[in-house]
Amino acid sequence: MTLWHERWVTEQIGWHRPVYNDMMVKHWASIGAKPYGTVLVPLCGKSLDMVWLAQRGHNVIGLEMVELAVETFFRERNLTPEKATSQQHTTYRSGPYTVYHGDALALEANTLQVDAWYDRAAMIALPATARDGYVQQLRDQTSPGAVGLLITYAYPQEEMEGPPFSLPDEEVYRLFSDGFTVERLEKMQLEDERGRGLSTISSSVFKIQRI
Ligand SMILES: C[S@@+](CC[C@H](N)C(=O)[O-])C[C@H]1O[C@@H](n2cnc3c(N)ncnc32)[C@H](O)[C@@H]1O
Repeated sequence: MTLWHERWVTEQIGWHRPVYNDMMVKHWASIGAKPYGTVLVPLCGKSLDMVWLAQRGHNVIGLEMVELAVETFFRERNLTPEKATSQQHTTYRSGPYTVYHGDALALEANTLQVDAWYDRAAMIALPATARDGYVQQLRDQTSPGAVGLLITYAYPQEEMEGPPFSLPDEEVYRLFSDGFTVERLEKMQLEDERGRGLSTISSSVFKIQRI
């Protein structure tokens, strides 16, 4: 069982929020996502942010490796998804939602061609060694011109074992230097997260656009 399966089975899902993400609500309109376009939500968990995006008229495609998370997302919406199984993934579909159950890093290139993506607690959930593969997935699964909203945390990595892993702004610029433009929309110091015993922690919000 992976760390993530264990977290879901034992209900240690402290990252899950019962409200919409305030940075998404604040910045989504400004990134210029195609109206009614498809939005990819990698490592989606059972995030309520998918509901907010669907309410804005988007079709939402989630990627999640823990089946319990996928099933819980639909059950909590009183939706009964249709299931379809391919070699790599099982897809769950209902209304505006399609969730791929499987490894988000193992999706075959061009399986999707989304217009936008939303990353909250996804890239920072992955170890540094997996980041290049994650960015390659975004290259492979998005249409030219697609826009993304990325929310990060950065803190001295030696002060805490991830996840969440520290993702400094310089690393975001480096990772997306090939085939994307990167614009930082906001950066804030987080005082309320210092309880984790970190000497400093900040959060940045980026607009990223595929060229
Ligand atoms: C920190 S949680 C964040 C969930 C969601 N983005 C949110 O904001 O609530 C990370 C999620 O990614 C899933 N996950 C981790 N690695 C994955 C992978 N390689 N492919 C698909 N899902 C993955 C975990 O099961 C977990 O639900």
